Amino acid sequence: MALLEVQNLCVSFDTADGAVSALNGVSFSLDAGETVAIVGESGSGKSQTAFAIMGLLARNGRASGEVRFDGTSLLGLSDAALNTVRANQIAMIFQDPMTSLNPYMRVSDQMAEVLQLHKGMSRRAARAECIRMLDAVRIPDAKNRITMFPHEFSGGMRQRVMIAMALLCQPRLLIADEPTTALDVTVQAQIMDLLSDIRRDFGTALILITHDLGIVAGACARTLVMYGGQIMESGPTGALFDAPSHPYTAGLLDAVPRLDRDDDALRSIAGEPPDMLRLPRGCPFSPRCALARDICADQRPALDPFDTARHRACHAPREEVS
Ligand SMILES: Nc1ncnc2c1ncn2[C@@H]1O[C@H](COP(=O)(O)OP(=O)(O)OP(=O)(O)O)[C@@H](O)[C@H]1O
Ligand SMILES: [Mg+2]
Repeated sequence: MALLEVQNLCVSFDTADGAVSALNGVSFSLDAGETVAIVGESGSGKSQTAFAIMGLLARNGRASGEVRFDGTSLLGLSDAALNTVRANQIAMIFQDPMTSLNPYMRVSDQMAEVLQLHKGMSRRAARAECIRMLDAVRIPDAKNRITMFPHEFSGGMRQRVMIAMALLCQPRLLIADEPTTALDVTVQAQIMDLLSDIRRDFGTALILITHDLGIVAGACARTLVMYGGQIMESGPTGALFDAPSHPYTAGLLDAVPRLDRDDDALRSIAGEPPDMLRLPRGCPFSPRCALARDICADQRPALDPFDTARHRACHAPREEVS
């Protein structure tokens, strides 16, 4: 059985201008210990996928469909039951650690609180475990630094503290939403290495959300490409990067800087992201797609399987996508 099973997940937000269709039938599954990246342009629905799984949608949002974690359906759960799952099984780390760390509380106190509250540990045992976890995320001199306040850590070290905190209850699934966007490239690479070590050492499954395709290749075995609140393409990361099967994926990859290309012009995808208040009836990417044909404006393509473990939602023949 899959650890996480998402089926036909839809999220819409009530706004003064009408209903924003943020997710429109997202389906995927994740096995224990597996790593998957969710990529796509800003507004494609990456974060809302995570928030819907975690039951953290904004108050004007509604989710429908099915989210099963270890066989338990999460969408219908009471807040209390959901809290237990969130505390013990699924953890999430966010782009900006300062939004999740309390600036006025010593790191030791906020970390220990998690274990005292959720695991019923004594203060002393909790503190020892917190130091162990800070060591695991390679915070130097964790024993002494644990008493510092969040602002006394550098950005990269703060992100490590966040990761340590997320791992305290040994979750089976870690969702990292743009965990390295605010960091410089060197620190980014260190955090990505850390995330893969964690997966190896703790067997944690990982969903990595990013718009930076550059960090996906080494980090995640599988990739989901989102656009307009839908999955356009999914498959093993290597195969998907080598031979994208969707014009949108091809466009995203073209926009990644590469050393092996002599023209150094970055090709961005022409056109605007879709208006989520008025999504096209057919494929949401069709207005920007060079391969679009009549059917694309009318009929939304299904996410169909092809090759080994790959899926694509596109009416154009695969040979036309380069
Ligand atoms: N509370 C809300 N009310 C209305 N619309 C919302 C709300 N929250 C999110 N949305 C819309 O949902 C869509 C998907 O947003 P989401 O946050 O998932 O994007 P994303 O892929 O994570 O983008 P980014 O890379 O910028 O983080 C966007 O069009 C966004 O404007
Ligand atoms: Mg986001």
